[in-house]
Amino acid sequence: MRQKYWWQEVVVYQIYPRSFKDSNNDGIGDLPGIIEKLDYLEKLGIGAIWLSPVYQSPNDDNGYDISDYEAIMTEFGTMEDMERLIQEADKRQIKIVMDLVVNHTSDEHAWFVEAKKSKDNPYRDYYVWANPSADGGVPNGLRSAFSGSAWQLDETTGQYYLHLFSKKQPDLNWQNEKVRQAVYQMMNFWIDKGIGGFRMDVIDLIGKVPEQEITGNGPRLHEFLQEMNQATFGKHDLLTVGETWGATPEIAKLYSNPDRHELSMVFQFEHIGLDQQAGGEKWDLAPVDLGQLKQIFAKWQTELDNQGWNSLFWNNHDLPRMISRWGNDTNYRVESAKMLAILLHMQKGTPYIYQGEEIGMTNTAITDISQAKDIESINMYQERLANGFTKEAIIQSINAKGRDNARRPVQWSNQAYAGFSTVEPWIAVNENYSSINVEQALADPDSIFYTYQKLIALRKANPLMIWGDFELLDTKEAVFAYLRKYQGETWLVVTNFSDDCHEFHYSNPQAKATELVIANMPIELSESLDLQLKPWQAFVVKLEE
Ligand code: NOJ
Repeated sequence: MRQKYWWQEVVVYQIYPRSFKDSNNDGIGDLPGIIEKLDYLEKLGIGAIWLSPVYQSPNDDNGYDISDYEAIMTEFGTMEDMERLIQEADKRQIKIVMDLVVNHTSDEHAWFVEAKKSKDNPYRDYYVWANPSADGGVPNGLRSAFSGSAWQLDETTGQYYLHLFSKKQPDLNWQNEKVRQAVYQMMNFWIDKGIGGFRMDVIDLIGKVPEQEITGNGPRLHEFLQEMNQATFGKHDLLTVGETWGATPEIAKLYSNPDRHELSMVFQFEHIGLDQQAGGEKWDLAPVDLGQLKQIFAKWQTELDNQGWNSLFWNNHDLPRMISRWGNDTNYRVESAKMLAILLHMQKGTPYIYQGEEIGMTNTAITDISQAKDIESINMYQERLANGFTKEAIIQSINAKGRDNARRPVQWSNQAYAGFSTVEPWIAVNENYSSINVEQALADPDSIFYTYQKLIALRKANPLMIWGDFELLDTKEAVFAYLRKYQGETWLVVTNFSDDCHEFHYSNPQAKATELVIANMPIELSESLDLQLKPWQAFVVKLEE
């Protein structure tokens, strides 16, 4: 039997501070705003908060461009506020997981300001530099995730620096021992403050070999992570989760097998790419293939078993809201939101909730690029326009996949600006706040909020939800059903992932449902488990076979 860890048992809640709660009415969310809402999060039942970056930053990429890792962003508050947040959360048994963004810094970080002064500056090798190619252009074909080349010419020294994200996010050179030690020192600064762990931004890129155009899963990646583990969190009981877009189950085991002393778990994104055209970018839309979705989930559930640990999520600050994406945010908003929650939380792994998910917040369409805030969408718009796409087609892609969808202010009430602030927020609220908001959700015992609350409570009371084995059932495509089994107990999870009615037959006619665990609509259980599922129906029963 393997050791058990606290981070396997909790549910994590992600906060994007800029959009969570504004306490001082400047239109920008802040740390005191988070503290104000800790009682709400305690009521939900979560055990940890993943806090998107709160460090000093010029905000080219909303805090993912850090200019000082040991200072708090002025708009968000002070270091005292941060310490108070850690203490106040702790009083409620909630740990604070910091976002660790160390693939790159801001170009305004003191290290980069020094590095670009001259080729022999002591900080030069903190970053990745290359001479122009033979024809005088960019060193090679590496592209930035935010459009265009990943190389930017530095006029002073005539060399290019690497930025896999925006020009204002130069990549750190992890081959340089000094960089690694400086990062570990900074991590220990935060560990000493009593944080509960780190979410590691694009961590699979730190082993890059730019001259060979290798970015993800570079040759020294796992060596670096083992070194980091030993130098920092390895001695403490912390949650560490890597953002790893290129992970397969084999790779995920390298990161999360406890015997290897790297990370607790990783975010894998295989399911997230299912609605994009083969060979295309995320903006090239395609309908989601539910058969594949089931196979991918089942693969991750079974292949990591006992040699790693899964993270479970539908949403984060980079993704459109799942309820609008693969659910139905018009006719079946409440039903599909609850179904998605049940389907995810009943799987094996640590579930993550993204702010607003627990009340069924939806995407927000824009009609013109002037309404976009996100650098990724704005750069892509310019690039695709230059490549002959129509404005309409680009806006359609942004509405489907753009990151601003997840970044609208949390809808707290039906007051002006959704109760997020008393002044115009940095990004416009979704107009549906008058009916979709926390106040309404808390007042309605049938709301999506209480389904999440119940799922979390069930997890605390039932070890099966955490440790049980997973078994996918063979069903019609739109029906996603599986078993969880633990110490002689079996739970059956049945969900209808569609707007249509579908039949469900459990294969063993002798099996009986003995108890209803949770459901998203009233259900009469016939003993035979032969059912006609309503659109987006979901239920979990205890099974006797
Ligand atoms: C992944 C983060 O989640 C995203 O928001 C950010 O833009 C990039 N990494 C760069 O830090």
